[in-house]
Amino acid sequence: MDFKDQVKEASDIVRVIGEYVRLKKMGPSYKGLCPFHNEKTPSFNVHAAQQYFKCFGCGIGGDVFKFVQEIEHISFFEALKLLADRNGMQMPKRNEFVDPDAKARGSIEDMNGLAAQLFRNNLISTMGADARAYLTKRGLSWEMVEQFGLGLSDRNSGLLKLLQQQGYSNEQLETSGLISKRESDGRLFDKFRGRLMFPIHNESGKIIAFGGRALAEGDEPKYLNSPATPLYEKSSVLYNLNRAKNAARKFERMVLVEGYMDVIGVFAAGVEEVVASCGTALTAKQVRMMRRMASRIVVNFDPDPAGRNATEKSILIMLEEGVEVAVLELEDGLDPDEYVKKFGAEVYRNKLEQAGNYFYWLADRARGHFDMRTGEGKVKAFQFLLPSIQKIPEKIRRATVASDVAGYLGIEASLVLDEFKRAAVDRKEQVLQVPSRTVPHAEKLLLRLLAASTEVRQVMLPRLASMGAIGGFTTHSIFETMVHLHENQPDFNFHDLEARLDENDRGLMAELVFADEIGNEAVLMDQAEHFLKRLEEDAQRTRLSEVKARIKAAERAGNIDDAIRLTEEYTKLENLNRKGPASR
Ligand code: GTP
Ligand code: MN
Repeated sequence: MDFKDQVKEASDIVRVIGEYVRLKKMGPSYKGLCPFHNEKTPSFNVHAAQQYFKCFGCGIGGDVFKFVQEIEHISFFEALKLLADRNGMQMPKRNEFVDPDAKARGSIEDMNGLAAQLFRNNLISTMGADARAYLTKRGLSWEMVEQFGLGLSDRNSGLLKLLQQQGYSNEQLETSGLISKRESDGRLFDKFRGRLMFPIHNESGKIIAFGGRALAEGDEPKYLNSPATPLYEKSSVLYNLNRAKNAARKFERMVLVEGYMDVIGVFAAGVEEVVASCGTALTAKQVRMMRRMASRIVVNFDPDPAGRNATEKSILIMLEEGVEVAVLELEDGLDPDEYVKKFGAEVYRNKLEQAGNYFYWLADRARGHFDMRTGEGKVKAFQFLLPSIQKIPEKIRRATVASDVAGYLGIEASLVLDEFKRAAVDRKEQVLQVPSRTVPHAEKLLLRLLAASTEVRQVMLPRLASMGAIGGFTTHSIFETMVHLHENQPDFNFHDLEARLDENDRGLMAELVFADEIGNEAVLMDQAEHFLKRLEEDAQRTRLSEVKARIKAAERAGNIDDAIRLTEEYTKLENLNRKGPASR
């Protein structure tokens, strides 16, 4: 078994994928919402026995490596390394494998690690006295400082010096996003200077970037983020997702706040399922990342005009992605961090519990915008709400919400219905297009069995091959691939097979593997045995008539020796036929 197979065996695909996607057990497999495309009903399947995943919506599928590659946007070898690391397995001769992109990402990862260490050392050294005082003033416990890996960047390009000492080339330094270059003379210097440093992790806990808050008066901007690097693309990152995911699954909720300090404040209040998009407008990708962990998102942005506008925009994106949205707007103009400090963790947690559905919040907004005493104002208010209601994917729920909102705003239901009908567009859910062809039941059955176990293959494949029936199958290409694989590598797994099939065959095999009605293996084996016997009998009959024809031809040609030999062969075959297949 090569290293790749060892790692694969050590990593249970259901557990690995389960860390990224909420999966439900359904029959022999697990189902969830596909993390790779937008869908409202689950067509993403994971098969435990075959260690295989497949989305019937977008078509993506493969083994555990393929999944990790796609979800983490990394190369095969990085996925291999990630899973090996997770299982405490040592990669053999690592450098031989690594491709240039992976190498670049690896070196940035290493530099980020060194930077985080340096920043931390700065913070606990004498240099960090002011920063520590600032943290205390802001009510951050040391426990949180440690938990979030906070640090301090110095003003003397200490990081540049450290990284140069470590032998990183100028090119590597520049791509790290940690070091900047002065245009005028090409001199390098630290990008982050005198800032409180927040490491930004990806989902699996690697440091991929930093955010830095100004500490000194007049330092601009207030927050500075790493630029995009081969490791960091801000539109697909959420701050604190790595720490939030377990609690989010457990409580089936994610809290979305605006900033770094909000995340830490809310986390410290005992609500670990909190993330922030950190200075960028929320993207559909980020919503999908949250949705993988919880179906309900509570938006708790700052209660200022910027925060409210961002809330409005975010609501639309979240609804489009099919998540349930609640909005919490805190009073006294406080952001979550300040609120927790002022009123305490428990009061804040209660506020979160009571956060209302987004349309009540929107309706309150509408009341502020329009004169609700006039009919015209009411209609306008409702029109203001309409786009967000229409984003609700299910028709019935859409209608219910519409009439709820109307009631809340004091608008007549008939008016609502008119407006609704006028604007209503019936959105159809993406229908999964599984390529279908008519494959005889018996072939399907055989394929399923053969894919399911090495033992079955050992018994059946030689028999199938010897009777030459495969050529006549609708799915002969799959059988042929199996026979070939079996000869070279009897213990091949589903992925090995899948990788060798064309698109069409792959779709069919995926369908078969995830077919719900897979039942008792013994029963299936019995059916297959039955079918196989019939095939063998057919083959036998064909062979008999062939020999008969040849006897006739030999007799006609006066070739007595041949005719006798063939007649003997015919008798032998006939006897076999009576006794049943000899190969058994
Ligand atoms: P404090 O002011 O330290 O309490 O931080 P905060 O987290 O409450 O920040 P604020 O409400 O001002 O902004 C929310 C988030 O927007 C921040 O955490 C940053 O991610 C981002 N942000 C704020 N100011 C800037 C800025 O000047 N530049 C960039 N790039 N992002 C910013
Ligand atoms: Mn704030």
